[in-house]
Amino acid sequence: MVIGIDIGSTTTKVAAIMPDKEIIRIKTRAIDAITSATGAFGKLIVENHFSLDSIKKINITGVGAARITDNLFGIKTNRVGEMTAIGTGGKYLAKKDRIIISNIGTGTAIIEVDGSKINHLGGTGVGGGTIIGLSKIMLGTTDFDTIMQYASKGSINNVDLLIGDIADTNISFLDKEFTASNFGKMLDIAGKEDLAMGIFNLTYQVIAMVSVFAAKSKNNDTVVVTGKGSNNPIGQNILKRVSRVHKINFEFPADAEYATAIGAALSV
Ligand SMILES: Nc1ncnc2c1ncn2[C@@H]1O[C@H](COP(=O)(O)OP(=O)(O)OP(=O)(O)O)[C@@H](O)[C@H]1O
Ligand SMILES: [Mg+2]
Repeated sequence: MVIGIDIGSTTTKVAAIMPDKEIIRIKTRAIDAITSATGAFGKLIVENHFSLDSIKKINITGVGAARITDNLFGIKTNRVGEMTAIGTGGKYLAKKDRIIISNIGTGTAIIEVDGSKINHLGGTGVGGGTIIGLSKIMLGTTDFDTIMQYASKGSINNVDLLIGDIADTNISFLDKEFTASNFGKMLDIAGKEDLAMGIFNLTYQVIAMVSVFAAKSKNNDTVVVTGKGSNNPIGQNILKRVSRVHKINFEFPADAEYATAIGAALSV
């Protein structure tokens, strides 16, 4: 089998691609690069009763990959560029050849896949780390489930300035429910629930628009969303609304969180 290890800023993910193409996934919190990579690798081996000699090679990627310079456990270890890994993994999960990938991790990277070409277009520092950082100061928690529970009961109307607050009619293609300014209203009555919704709206609207502009600049209409931020129902709804207005399709493949690790395993 081939193993891909993605040492991300927050989480380390491992994907093992078996000879029959089945994919086994493991994740662990990123501590230092070496501890989390070897820890996740060890967990994969022990839990699945694998023997070391069944592993053909290990491909590592992610911000922490540069810290591992030698072979791991005597197994041939390659380093794969993170953008190549995201592009390869996103393409594999989407089963499409011409896509824009928006990888929502701690920050957000945007990649163009055009056949065999993988092109890093840019991105934004707005991502999962933004949600956690703002929640710490505004909600007094960094627990994602709690933040989600707050947001699910929140009203964006108490936080964001909406088009309907400033105009009597639609402005161009924007109707009265659209945000004119994130956190631009901030009513005194806004509670934690509303603030949490405001944090999600800010984060996912920025990601949505950066992705839309990237897609339009490449004459593409499909954005495949990968990273942990992909499989978030509140985030998905925000992306889908932007999708309808701008006629850009956002896709959320299963296993999106493992796209980079899977892509690493499939590279080299
Ligand atoms: N349910 C969730 N929905 C959206 N984001 C989440 C969820 N749970 C955790 N996160 C956020 O996802 C981020 C981690 O995602 P991921 O594992 O894709 O990133 P990473 O690979 O560690 O980072 P990067 O790719 O930016 O180096 C963290 O910032 C975390 O706060
Ligand atoms: Mg990542």
